[in-house]
Amino acid sequence: MRAAALSVFYLIPVLLAAGPADYAGAEACRPCHTANFTSQSNTSHAHTLAPSSPAQRGDWAFGAGLQAITFVTKVNRESYREDGLTWYRSLNGYAITPGQHDEQGVVFRTFDPAARFLKCFACHSTGPLSLGKDEEIVPHELGVRCEVCHGPGAAHVSDPTHSPLHTPAQLTAGTMNRFCGKCHRTDSETGDELTDLRDFRNARDQPLRLAASNCFRRSNGRLNCLTCHSPHRQLDQNASSYDVRCQTCHANKVHRQQVAGLACVTCHMPRVPNGPYLSFANHRIAVYSKGNPILPVTAQAAQ
Ligand code: HEC
Ligand code: HEC
Ligand code: HEC
Ligand code: HEC
Ligand code: HEC
Ligand code: HEC
Ligand code: HEC
Repeated sequence: MRAAALSVFYLIPVLLAAGPADYAGAEACRPCHTANFTSQSNTSHAHTLAPSSPAQRGDWAFGAGLQAITFVTKVNRESYREDGLTWYRSLNGYAITPGQHDEQGVVFRTFDPAARFLKCFACHSTGPLSLGKDEEIVPHELGVRCEVCHGPGAAHVSDPTHSPLHTPAQLTAGTMNRFCGKCHRTDSETGDELTDLRDFRNARDQPLRLAASNCFRRSNGRLNCLTCHSPHRQLDQNASSYDVRCQTCHANKVHRQQVAGLACVTCHMPRVPNGPYLSFANHRIAVYSKGNPILPVTAQAAQ
C-alpha cells in the first residue's frame, strides 16, 4: 500500500532526497531575507493551501482564490473527499467542482493507486508529507514557499556562507520548464501523455504550451518562465505590463492592423476557458483568430 504513496515523491524528486529536519520553513528566512520573505508571503503560491476557515466548507481550502477554492475533507481513517462545490471568483459564489458532475463530491482512499489526495497536498505544500493520527495527511509547511524552489534550507540557516543555497535562475530554459512543470504540468491533467495541443483542458499546462511556441523554440534558450514572472511576487494581472517582455525580442514588429493601445498578450496569449468559470492564458504564444484561442492560425492552416 505504501508503494502508492511513494509515487507522489516521484513527482517531486527534489523532496525525496531530504527529510523533514532538512527544511527550515519560510519563517526562518525572514530575518536575513526580509524583502523576499515579505513579498513572497503575499503570493498565491504562499496561500494555495490553508485549513478551511469557519465560514468555508470542509477541512482544507485548496487554491488561494485567484480563480477558485476547492475544499477537501477527511471522511474516515482511509479516505478523503473533494467537495462537489467549489468557490469561484468569476461567480463570487459556489458551483460544481471542475471534473465533477454533482454536489456529492468524490471520495478516494488516501493510498489508492492514483494517490490523488497525496498529490494534491504535495503540489500545494512545501517539504515532505507525513502521516498523523488516524492516517491524516500532514503537510510539512502550507503553500508553495522558499524551499520548493531553493531546496531544503536548514543547513543554510545555521551557516549561510558554508552551506549556500541555489536559485533556479541558472537553469536552462528546458530544465526550467520541467522544474516549474513538476507542479505546473508538462503533460495534460487528463493523464494521457499530452500531445494534443488542441485540447482545451491543457490550457493550464503552461510549461508544455510555452515549449510549443516559436518564441521558445527559436530563441536559443532565452525565453523561460522568469522572463515574464517574478518568483517572489504575485502574478501581474495588468496585461500591458508584459509588453516590455515581448519587446525585448520584438522591438520593431509592424502590424498590418491597428494594434496601438492594446496589450500584446490579449491577442497573442488569449485567455482560454477551462469549464464555465476558469480560464488560463494560452502560453503557446502565436497569432490567433477571434473565435479560436487554443489553436494558432498557422496550425489551423496546416491541417
Ligand atoms: C542568518 C542569515 C540567513 C538566513 C536565516 C538565511 N539566509 Fe539565505 N543567505 C544568507 C547570506 C549571508 C547569503 C549570501 C551567501 C553568500 O553569498 O556567500 C545568502 C544567500 C542565499 C541565497 C543565494 C542567493 C544567490 O544569489 O545565489 C538563497 C537562494 C538564499 N540565501 C535563500 C534562503 C532561504 C530560502 C532561507 C530560509 C530557508 C535563507 N536563505 C535563510 C543569509 C541567510
Ligand atoms: C510545488 C509545486 C509548485 C512549483 C514547483 C511551482 N509552482 Fe507555481 N503554483 C503552484 C500552485 C499550487 C499554484 C496555485 C496558486 C493558487 O492557489 O492560486 C501556483 C501558481 C503560480 C502562478 C500564478 C500566480 C499565482 O501566484 O497564483 C505563477 C505565475 C506560478 N505559479 C509560477 C511558477 C514558476 C515560474 C515556477 C518555477 C520557478 C513555479 N510556479 C513552481 C505550485 C507550484
Ligand atoms: C501536479 C501538481 C498538482 C496537483 C496534483 C494538484 N494541483 Fe491544484 N494546482 C496546481 C497548480 C500548478 C495550480 C495553479 C493553477 C494552474 O494550473 O495554472 C493549481 C491550482 C489549484 C486551484 C485553484 C483553481 C485552479 O484550478 O486554478 C485549486 C482549487 C486546486 N489547485 C485544487 C487542487 C486539488 C483539490 C487537488 C487534488 C484533487 C489538486 N489541486 C491537485 C498543481 C496541482
Ligand atoms: C517559485 C520559486 C521560488 C520561490 C517559492 C522562492 N524563490 Fe527565491 N528565487 C527564485 C528565483 C528563480 C531566484 C533568482 C532570482 C530572481 O529571478 O529573482 C530567486 C532568488 C532568491 C534570492 C537571491 C536573490 C535575491 O533576490 O536576493 C534569495 C535570497 C531568495 N530567492 C530567497 C527566497 C525566500 C526567502 C523565499 C521564501 C520566502 C523564496 N526565495 C521563495 C525562486 C523562488
Ligand atoms: C526571448 C525572445 C522572445 C520573447 C521574449 C518573445 N518572443 Fe515572440 N518570438 C521569438 C522568436 C525567436 C520567434 C520566431 C520568429 C521566427 O520564426 O521568425 C517568435 C515568434 C513570435 C510570433 C509568431 C508566432 C508563430 O507562430 O510563428 C508571435 C506572434 C510572437 N512571437 C509574439 C510574442 C509576444 C506577444 C511576446 C510577449 C508575450 C513574445 N513574442 C515574446 C522570440 C521571443
Ligand atoms: C512571455 C511571457 C510569459 C512567459 C514566458 C510565461 N508566462 Fe505565465 N503568464 C503570462 C501572462 C501574460 C499571464 C496572464 C496574466 C493575467 O492573468 O493577466 C500568465 C499567467 C500565468 C499563470 C496563471 C494562470 C494562467 O495560465 O493564466 C501561471 C500559473 C503561469 N503563468 C505560469 C507560467 C509558467 C510556469 C511559465 C514557464 C513555463 C510561464 N508562466 C511563462 C506570461 C508569461
Ligand atoms: C489586436 C491584436 C494584436 C495585438 C494587440 C498585437 N498583435 Fe501582433 N499580430 C496580430 C496579428 C493578427 C498578426 C498577424 C498579421 C500581422 O503580422 O499583422 C500579428 C503578428 C505578430 C508577429 C509576427 C508573426 C509572424 O508570423 O510573423 C509578431 C512578432 C507580433 N505580432 C508581436 C506583437 C507584439 C510584440 C505586440 C505588442 C507590442 C503585438 N504583437 C500586439 C495581432 C495583434
